[in-house]
Amino acid sequence: MKIRPTKGLTFDDVLLVPKRSPIASRQDVDTSTWLTPTIPLRIPIVSANMDTVTEAAMSIAMARAGGVGIIHRFMSIEGQVKQVKRVKRAEGFMVERPYSISSEASIGEARQLMSQHEVGGLVVTNGKSELVGLVTQRDIILASDDSALVSLVMTPPDQIISARADISPEEARALLHEHRLEKLPVIDDNDQLVGLITAQDIVKHNRHPDATKDDKGRLRVGAAIGVKPNDVARAEVLLAAGADLLVLDIAHGHADHCVDMLKTLRRNFPDAQIVAGNVASKEGARDLAEAGADAIKVGVGPGSICTTRIVTGFGVPQLTAIMDGVEGVTESGRDIPVIADGGIRTSGDLVKALAAGATSVMIGSLFAGCEESPGSTVIRNGQKFKVVRGMASLGAAMGRKAVEEEDDESAESQEDWNKVVPEGVEAVVPYRGNVDELLYQLIGGLWSGLSYGGALTIKELQDNAEFMEITPAGIRESHSHDVSRI
Ligand code: XMP
Repeated sequence: MKIRPTKGLTFDDVLLVPKRSPIASRQDVDTSTWLTPTIPLRIPIVSANMDTVTEAAMSIAMARAGGVGIIHRFMSIEGQVKQVKRVKRAEGFMVERPYSISSEASIGEARQLMSQHEVGGLVVTNGKSELVGLVTQRDIILASDDSALVSLVMTPPDQIISARADISPEEARALLHEHRLEKLPVIDDNDQLVGLITAQDIVKHNRHPDATKDDKGRLRVGAAIGVKPNDVARAEVLLAAGADLLVLDIAHGHADHCVDMLKTLRRNFPDAQIVAGNVASKEGARDLAEAGADAIKVGVGPGSICTTRIVTGFGVPQLTAIMDGVEGVTESGRDIPVIADGGIRTSGDLVKALAAGATSVMIGSLFAGCEESPGSTVIRNGQKFKVVRGMASLGAAMGRKAVEEEDDESAESQEDWNKVVPEGVEAVVPYRGNVDELLYQLIGGLWSGLSYGGALTIKELQDNAEFMEITPAGIRESHSHDVSRI
C-alpha cells in the first residue's frame, strides 16, 4: 500500500497564470490539432461515443465544424455501419458508388429507393456498371403510374452530361453551372460509372471550410468498439464502411484484455487509426502506447454521468490524469496524442485540459442537450430538456442486452441482468439548440484562452502553461458573485 505524496487535481483546483501576449486579435490564433498522427482537426473537440450523444447527425455537425464525432457501439453491427455510411455520404466532392437502379425497374421502386436512402436521384445502370440513364425526383414526382418502367422517365444516355474521373471541384462547379445541372455522373476511361458529383455537394464543400475531411473530400467519422469476441468482425466492417478511426473504448482500459485486443487490431488492421482507453495513470497510457495505439483516451470517472469513483473507489482527478497520461506516452517513446475524456463543463475546462497536455477533448453531456444528439426530448415545467445517460448506467446496460443478443450468443449476453452494478446515471440536461452554436462558444473561449496564454497555437499554450492551485475562496471569486443573476 502507498499514498502518493501529491494531491490529484482537477479543473476547479487550478487557474492558469496570464502571460504576456503578442496577440492583438482572436483571429491570429490557430486551434488546429491532431486527433491521431494522421488525422488533423481544426478544432480540438470530439463528441463522445455515448448513445445519447453521437450518431450520424452529431458526427456530421462535428466534422463540418472541424472536430469529429465517434459513433457509439451500443447498437447492432449493421446499425453502426449504417451510421458510419450516413456520415461518409453526407458530403464529399464525389459520391462513390452512388445508389443505382436498373432501367427495367418500376417508377415505384425508384421512388421507394430514393426515399429509403434519402437521395434526390439515382443513376441508371446496366448489369455491367455502365451508365444508361439518370432518374431524379423531378422525373417521377408527378408520375401517376408507379408500375411504368424507369426507362420511360429517365434522362437517356445521349442527353447526359458526364465528367471524367480526374475532374477538379472547380471544373465540376463550372460544368454544373454551365448546363444548370444538379447531378454529374463520373465515368472512367472504360465508360464505367465511378461516382456522382451533385450541386449540393459543391455548395456544402464551400460552406464548411474548416470541415474535417478525408482525402476523398468526405467527412471523417470515428466508431467505437469493445473487446467482445465479435468486435474484431465489427472493426473490419466499420473500416470497410469508411470509418476513419476506431476507438477501443473500455471503462478500465489498462486491462490485459484491452491490451490484447489492441494488439490483435494492430495486427489485423495495420493501417487503421486506433484510439485506445480509458486510462488515468502514467503506466496505463504507456502500456497502451507501447501496444500500438495511435492516441490515448484519458479519464476514469470525471464524466458528468459517471459514478465509477463512488461505486469502485477508483479514479484520478482529471487534470492530474491528463498530465500523467502525457508523461506515460512520453515514457513509451512514441509521439501520439492524448484525448482528455470527460468532465468538460465550460470553455475554461477545455483550455485547462489542453494546457495540461491534451491535444483534444471528448465531450459527452454538454453535447447531449443539442439538437443533433440522439437522446429523447422531455418537457419539464414548460422547459425543454434532453436525456443523457452513462453508458454504464442501468438503463444503458438493459438496452445493450437486446443488441448483444442480436449480434452474438456470447457468454455475457446470457448474463443475469438483474445483477448489473451500474457505474453511471441517467439524467436530463437543458436543451441547447444546434451544436455549432455551442461549439462557437467553446472555441470562442479557447481563442481568448490562447490569447491569455500568450500562445498562437495549442502547442504554445502547453509550453507556456503555468498552473496555480487555488483555494475554495479562489473558486468562489472566479464565478460571478455578490450579484443577482438575471
Ligand atoms: P462528460 O462529462 O463530457 O463525460 O459527460 C463523458 C464521458 O464519460 C464517460 N462515461 C462514463 N463513465 N460511467 C462512467 O464512469 C458511465 O456510465 C459513463 N458513460 C460515459 C465516457 O468516457 C464519456 O466519454
